[in-house]
Amino acid sequence: MIMRTVSGIQPTGNLHLGNYLGAIKNWVKLQAESECLFFLADLHAITVPNDPAELSDNCRNMVAALVAAGVDTQKSILFNQARVPQHAELAWMLICNTPMGWLDRMTQFKEKSGKHKQRSSLGLYGYPVLQAADVLIYQATHVPVGEDQKQHLELARDIATKFNNDTGSEVFTLPEPYIGATAARIMSLRDGAAKMSKSDPSDLSRINMTDDDDTIAKKIKKARTDADPLPSKLEELEGRAEATNLVGIYAALDDSTPQAVLDEHAGQGFGAFKPALADLAVSKLSPIRDRYEELRQDKGAIDTILRDGAERAQALAQPTVDKAYAALGL
Ligand code: ADP
Ligand code: NA
Repeated sequence: MIMRTVSGIQPTGNLHLGNYLGAIKNWVKLQAESECLFFLADLHAITVPNDPAELSDNCRNMVAALVAAGVDTQKSILFNQARVPQHAELAWMLICNTPMGWLDRMTQFKEKSGKHKQRSSLGLYGYPVLQAADVLIYQATHVPVGEDQKQHLELARDIATKFNNDTGSEVFTLPEPYIGATAARIMSLRDGAAKMSKSDPSDLSRINMTDDDDTIAKKIKKARTDADPLPSKLEELEGRAEATNLVGIYAALDDSTPQAVLDEHAGQGFGAFKPALADLAVSKLSPIRDRYEELRQDKGAIDTILRDGAERAQALAQPTVDKAYAALGL
């Protein structure tokens, strides 16, 4: 059986090194192992209020970043949900077959709606059902999941099982979790206890996908560290959050491991390690940045990529939608 994975990403703005190493780069790697469908989760993005102009910029920038980083649109199918209406169609069929009690258990709704449950959209509440549709519609065999998404994949499997049982038809494949190499979690350059994030007010806390070479080097030079040299064993990095983060960034950029980085740099202080990291970061990131800047200006090229991706995705999605309608007697 061939492996088919489906994975979505929110069209978030101001892309940074955390997005690249924690999300985008994993897709690039996944292409070597699996047939891949990658989508911009724009229908998920509208479950919360959005500025329309910003949302469309974010979508375009995300496509540019994915392609610049190495998503191969000949091999993989890259598209946005809104242009593949079968997602919304199947989501409705599944919504009608999913007990509210199952959604009440989803912890992310509680986190995202917070105290404002009554003002949150019905879409935010039903979001996990759309997520189920996103993967079931392609008969995905695998879904890459992080810790925070395990509950949602379980729900997708439960929804698929219930639909198959209730209709007495084998409409859906049950997707398995794909646990690849654990995604890097990149921390702020100014605070080893905070995630690198677009919402951090300090621009020195993150490396942006648009930073020029000097800015990248300057931010690494200014990164917070301690005064000790790098140890030879990984365990000895414990309790040194900032040092651990810089070693982790080095490893992720170099497709290596933190231990391998220590094997090479043990004994170095940050006066020596930071320039090495800056050189590596510039050499890996500058070609991606240049392609990214070029591509995101080319609206026509991005529209073509998404149009082609949507056509290919629709061709794969429609048979499942047909089967699901038929199973319901429609
Ligand atoms: P931000 O945290 O800057 O708001 P998003 O939440 O929009 O970024 O994240 C988009 C994608 O990038 C998600 O898949 C998320 O897991 C990943 N990501 C964001 N920040 C990091 C980080 N610091 N380290 C690793 N992955 C990250
Ligand atoms: Na976030």
